[in-house]
Parts: sequence; C-alpha cells; structure tokens
Amino acid sequence: MLRKAINFLSNSPTAKKLLTDTPFTRAMSKQFVPGETVDSAVEATREDNALGLKVTMNYLGESVEDEPSARAAADTYIQLLEEIGAHKLDANVSLKFTQMGQDISESFLAENLGRVLEVAERHGIFLRFDMEYSSHTQRTLDALEKLWAQGHQNIGTVLQAYLYRTEGDVARMIELGARVRLCKGAYSEPAAIAIQEMDKIRENYIHLMKRLVSEGNYPGLATHDPKLIGAAVDYVAQNGIGAERFEFQMLHGVRTDLQKQLVADGYNVRVYIPFGEMWYPYLMRRMAERPANILMISRAAIGRAFGRG
Ligand code: FDA
Repeated sequence: MLRKAINFLSNSPTAKKLLTDTPFTRAMSKQFVPGETVDSAVEATREDNALGLKVTMNYLGESVEDEPSARAAADTYIQLLEEIGAHKLDANVSLKFTQMGQDISESFLAENLGRVLEVAERHGIFLRFDMEYSSHTQRTLDALEKLWAQGHQNIGTVLQAYLYRTEGDVARMIELGARVRLCKGAYSEPAAIAIQEMDKIRENYIHLMKRLVSEGNYPGLATHDPKLIGAAVDYVAQNGIGAERFEFQMLHGVRTDLQKQLVADGYNVRVYIPFGEMWYPYLMRRMAERPANILMISRAAIGRAFGRG
C-alpha cells in the first residue's frame, strides 16, 4: 500500500513539483545523493576510496526525450570519465540507456553513447549499463551485444533477480564473458513476468548468484540484504572461490557499517554514488524499496536542519 503510494508520488508531476521545492526534501536526499555536481561526486568518491571502497558513479537521469538533453547527459559522463582518469580514482561509471536517448532512437543512442565509450576506452574505464523497466530489458541487452560484437568489451550490464527471464540472460552473459551486476530489481513489474514474493526473489537471487560467482566474469553482487550477503560469503568459502573473483555493491548512504565490515573482511566492495539535479525519482525508489528509510532519512534531515546531523 505504502509502496504503491510512493510509486504514485514518484510519477506524479504535481507531487514532484511540490516536494522538490521544499528545502526539507532536498535535505532528505543528502542521505543518498552527495550533491548535484561532478565535483560533489568526485569528492564523495575520494572519501570512499580512502576507506578502501571502490566506486561506480552515476549521473542521475532517465527517460530523456529530446536530443539536446541526452547530449548534455553524455557530456557530463565525458567530464566524469576525464576526472576519474586525471585523478586516478578507483571508480567506474554506471549509466542508463534512456538517459542517453534510447527512447529517441537506437541510432541516436549508438551515436551519443559512442562518444562516452570512446573516452572510457581511452582511459581504460569500465562502463556499466543500469537496467530499467522490463520494457527496456531486451533492447538494453541487444544494444550491449551489438557493442560487444563491435569489439567494445569493457562494458557490462545489470540483471534483475525478480524477472523470470533472468536465468536465460545470466546464461547468455556468462557465454559472452560480459560482467553482470546482479540485483533484486527496483521497478514495479507485473506478476506475469516478475516474481512478486520477496522470499522467492531472494531464492532466485541466490541461485543466480551461485552461477555468476562460479562461471561469470567478475560479477557485482548488488544488495544490502544480510541473508543474500551471508549466502554469498558461505558459498564462496565452501567452494574455494577467491575474493578477487567478484565484488559486493551497495548504494551510497545505505549500510555503510556493512560496507566497511566487508572491506575489513577482505572483500571487494563498490559503492554506487549517484549525483545530479534529477535526484527526486531516485529518492522515491529508495523509499519504495524500504519505507523505513522515510523515517531514517527524516530523522537525518531534521538533525541536519537543527545542527545535529
Ligand atoms: P532490501 O531493500 O530488500 O532490504 C533487505 C534488507 O537489507 C533489509 O531488511 C535490511 O535488513 C537491509 N537494509 C536495506 N536498506 C537498509 C538501510 N537503509 N538501513 C539498514 N538496513 C537496510 N535495481 C534495478 O532495477 N536496476 C539497476 O540497475 C540497479 N542497480 C543497483 C546498483 C546497486 C549498487 C544496488 C545496491 C542496487 C541497485 N538496484 C538496481 C536496486 C536493487 O534492485 C534493489 O531494489 C535494492 O538494492 C534493494 O534491495 P536490497 O537487496 O539491497 O535490500
């Protein structure tokens, strides 16, 4: 019920206008988004790198419908890649195809993304394509395969454990040798194509995690769920799989205690640092995933507003 209400708020232009105009919501977003500029993301990356955490940086934005905005987003990614290269940050980049112009046309996407790829390749920086709504899954995988066949192989994508199709997609990515980030899935998807019960999503996650860790190319296990992290830790220990063969991935501002603990235990941990003006839908997704975050973030925002945060 609450999740549906948050999803509604996320998609309502009126709610968005009302909420993003308040300093309170802006303060709330700080928990998850370090700032709106490239500099703020670089600063947060430096701090995480100093703690032994790897980073993936994401310029927030999706569903871009006009070419100038999609080009501007690509320009920001280029600036970001230049910064990572110049300062030798332990970081790579995650981007969304609909932000790069996938909904405008596949040819525009290829041209716009091509500029980003060229800079990433010049610096030897890995590029990850985030996964969005299921309406875009096949198109995203097709675009990845096309780029792969053209020789761009420092790329990878994300597969969502809640989709029934993901078992086949995991097999295909293993066959290709492309890096996969495995996550539960953050969007609202119908029962015909997606598992709805959390226990079953977890079960499928563990099943897919085992395949990826055993046979895949350096998978990213993206979750804050102690059950899934525990299952991965047990599985690699029982099967003699070294910590260098995979990494855990978590979001900026979520379970920082666990992030540090895993680093101390010798695991690779990568933190996803989103930044930019488009923080509202991102914040709403974090709320929908875990309504308890509303309370936690409200407390932090109030603390900051009153000088305690
Ligand atoms: P979930 O939110 O289900 O929580 C499970 C448990 O984790 C909780 O019961 C609690 O114990 C603990 N927990 C979680 N948050 C906490 C908090 N703030 N404080 C304390 N405990 C907390 N999705 C997608 O569709 N496409 C994508 O490309 C990506 N990319 C992506 C990258 C990275 C790095 C991450 C971590 C996640 C994504 N996701 C994503 C989102 C993903 O699909 C999923 O929605 C979220 O990670 C939430 O699921 P979890 O398994 O992390 O924990």
